[in-house]
Amino acid sequence: MPDLDSIFAPQGVIKEAQDLAAATFGADAAHFIVNGTTAGIQGMIMTSCRPGEKIILPRNVHKSVFGALILSGAEPIYMPAELDSELGIAMGVRSEQVEHTARNYPEAKAVFLLNPTYYGMVSDLPAIVATVHDYNMAVLVDEAHGAHFSFHPLLPPSAMEAGADLAALSIHKMLGSLTQSSLVVQQGSRFDPAYVKAVFNLTQTTSPSYVLLASLDVARKQAYFHGGKMLRRTINLANWVRHELNSLPGIYVFGSEMIGRPGCAGIDPTKLCINVRGIGLTGREAEEILRHDYRLQVELSDTGNVLALITIGDNKESVRKLVNAFHDISRRFPECSLLEREILLPGIPELALLPKEAFYADKRPHEFKAAAGKICGELIMAYPPGIPIICPGEIITEETLDYINKLKQKQAWLQGMEDPTLEHIWVIR
Ligand SMILES: Cc1ncc(COP(=O)(O)O)c(C=O)c1O
Repeated sequence: MPDLDSIFAPQGVIKEAQDLAAATFGADAAHFIVNGTTAGIQGMIMTSCRPGEKIILPRNVHKSVFGALILSGAEPIYMPAELDSELGIAMGVRSEQVEHTARNYPEAKAVFLLNPTYYGMVSDLPAIVATVHDYNMAVLVDEAHGAHFSFHPLLPPSAMEAGADLAALSIHKMLGSLTQSSLVVQQGSRFDPAYVKAVFNLTQTTSPSYVLLASLDVARKQAYFHGGKMLRRTINLANWVRHELNSLPGIYVFGSEMIGRPGCAGIDPTKLCINVRGIGLTGREAEEILRHDYRLQVELSDTGNVLALITIGDNKESVRKLVNAFHDISRRFPECSLLEREILLPGIPELALLPKEAFYADKRPHEFKAAAGKICGELIMAYPPGIPIICPGEIITEETLDYINKLKQKQAWLQGMEDPTLEHIWVIR
């Protein structure tokens, strides 16, 4: 039906809506995605790397990136993520770390970054983009949690403002579109928009939902006309909650005092990472209590924190529920001094096989205790710190096994492995 245009070669209403989105997000071109930001990330990496080419990325990327590495056949060069010793969570990357890695791997085609991290930290993106471009590499940004950044000056710079080449934005997370609908934006001359579109067409469904497409257009329009006002209110609400919760004994929600610590050039004030160790709870326990006793669902929990998102969908009433719940929780669980010994992160394991090779290799379960020296066949991720401990194709070391054991003892949330008890770990034959 000509009036509906085609997402594969937009010429009509979809083109018009995408052009408006590009202008709204400060980009030269925009591509609507109905398979989530996951598809956006796959497309960005497949656009910039051919099989075997190198891509530099921090270790604390989302699991969709590991899928993109398998599909593209790219070789990952990981940068260690900074770890905040007080909160135990992964931060952004330092500009010096990016420069150092680019210098060591000048043949890499792209640098992939997060803006912001899951916990809401941002790296110094403008400085990093300038450095990476000096090395003639592309900058790709996972902006799944930063789709609102363009619309308020109190939020960190967006990837496009920072000069990145490509960014994938979850409009369905931080703005108002329906789940699964995302946007990829691009600027500059490094990638021809027609080529980017051709790559997305490889994985895009041939039956895109027009409900999702229309919701992207409506969310764009809402953000364009009302984004500033809505986000001012959202930031004020989040700052009010932060202030209220920080007045409770044993509860700590970080704010701008984090800025300047290694790997933190700025924060997204709308994310509330609520540390509950000071009242003797784990984040997992606090999540359960919030859900069952107060009917509040948080975004994420880990051993020390629950992560609450205040969004444009919130109002005084909804955030007051959170504040009241914590007033009550702090009465039920008095402040206690819980000194935790920081567990040092192991080094990034050596890569024996590319993610793609590891994915297609034969695998078998192997006794966990005796797995040192084997090539890992699965991805094991831990919250906190939100960094994969080992990825498929990497060599398991005693240090890695020891770290996993310590995380198990601390009841960290381990994810991704076939055997949840970790008596066995899948290795490559
Ligand atoms: C940092 C990050 N990147 C990418 C994604 C993937 O986004 P989507 O769920 O839209 O595919 C997520 C999803 O939670 C995410 O948290």
